[in-house]
Amino acid sequence: MTPDVQLNPSAAVRTEARRDAFASNLGAFAATVGSAIGLGNIWKFPYLTGSNGGAAFVLTYLLAVALVGVPVMVVEHAIGRRMRLDAVRAYGRAVPGQPFWAAIGWAGFVSAVFIMAFYTDVAGWVFAYVFKSAAALRTGAPLTSATFGALAGGTWEPLLWQALVTVLTCWIIATGVSKGIERVTKTLMPVLFTLLLVCDVRALTLPGAAHGVAYLFRPDLSKLTASVLLAALGLAFFKLSLGMGTMTTYGSYLPDQTRIVPNAARVALADTLVSLLAGLAIFPTVFAFGGTPAGGPGLLFNTIPLVFSRMPAGGLFTFLFFVLSAIATIGAMVSLMEVPVAWFVEKGHLRRPAAAIVTAAIMFALGVLATLSQSPVLADVKLFGKTFFDLFDFASSNVLLPVGGVAIAIVGGWLVSRRSFVEEMDRGYASAPRYERPLYALIRYVAPVLILLILLNSLGVIRLA
Ligand code: TRP
Repeated sequence: MTPDVQLNPSAAVRTEARRDAFASNLGAFAATVGSAIGLGNIWKFPYLTGSNGGAAFVLTYLLAVALVGVPVMVVEHAIGRRMRLDAVRAYGRAVPGQPFWAAIGWAGFVSAVFIMAFYTDVAGWVFAYVFKSAAALRTGAPLTSATFGALAGGTWEPLLWQALVTVLTCWIIATGVSKGIERVTKTLMPVLFTLLLVCDVRALTLPGAAHGVAYLFRPDLSKLTASVLLAALGLAFFKLSLGMGTMTTYGSYLPDQTRIVPNAARVALADTLVSLLAGLAIFPTVFAFGGTPAGGPGLLFNTIPLVFSRMPAGGLFTFLFFVLSAIATIGAMVSLMEVPVAWFVEKGHLRRPAAAIVTAAIMFALGVLATLSQSPVLADVKLFGKTFFDLFDFASSNVLLPVGGVAIAIVGGWLVSRRSFVEEMDRGYASAPRYERPLYALIRYVAPVLILLILLNSLGVIRLA
């Protein structure tokens, strides 16, 4: 990140024009939060908490967000804004004489495709639930775990929903409607937040709710195993959209006056709050109804209708909840698909619609494998002992994103000059803010070392837990 690799203004304008429909009109905070908040909060956080033993996982996750997530986001934003380039070229040019760091961007494409493969499956369930809850509202027949089992374990139904969300995302990308969608997302995010609060009030006043709260917040440290640590770290990356270039790309759109560090801290805080609110809606309900916290990917779909079933106009709230969740998934899917699309447009010289279609086709091909691995068709096909759904999830969150995160921290903390890095990080301040030194130490030492320890620990090379 030396001044001589600074992009010239005309190229910066071109880059801006290429993606202007996506980010240029948004406040830095809204754009970043829009990518971060998604299925990760309302689906993945609760389900991973449930299958990894509760509060010990939550505590590890919170530490991972603070000690690894925020520092890595700061590096991604600083490098992105300094370079004003897409992720591949940004890392390819950040360190003079070391173009191979572009591999961070390439690995990001693979992560994006893997994540979309299972993300579109789950987003399809959410969209299906919009319609199923509307139907339940009309007929009065409740949504039960059988409803979810039939959907996720089916063959054609989940594939059709997955195709639908893929086409929808593709269409948004191709036509550049994303600006409108982002605005809708931004307006409706507070509504989702409010609805989560309503859920929380209902869930927390159910008999036995205290068990759910204790499950989330009273850690039993004996539950900390290598796989729990890795899952918490992987979730921190997944949640904050880190480790694959999304936040670097967003950084390239950040206005010069944005203070990168407070922005990253606020995004992490808001995102974590939404996750915890979702957890507070789900776990008290699980305990009140005698369910099991380790309900797996179906947890959200089985508990939310239950939370609301016990209150006036519950069916309507269930419907609203899934509508808003569906909207939240769109922003995240667009940000995931945009990474390869941008590359196809720029290097592959495809036009946006063609780039969107090619990307969507690749994602859908893997997505079919993920979806069918939940149905009898491919349920027995396992690679490395995992179904396709689990494999794509594991390979992206628990391998590619953390490895990308180490590389990003090394580039930001060690390979670019401290002076130019800190200058970018502190832009917007008249004098060096107080957090500068400790944060730089987190970037340089704590974040990469923690990630490496957790990765080595999970491989069995060292033993932490
Ligand atoms: N953060 C989003 C969520 O929690 C998912 C997501 C969007 C993402 N863009 C990303 C994850 C980039 C990793 C990388 O639902």
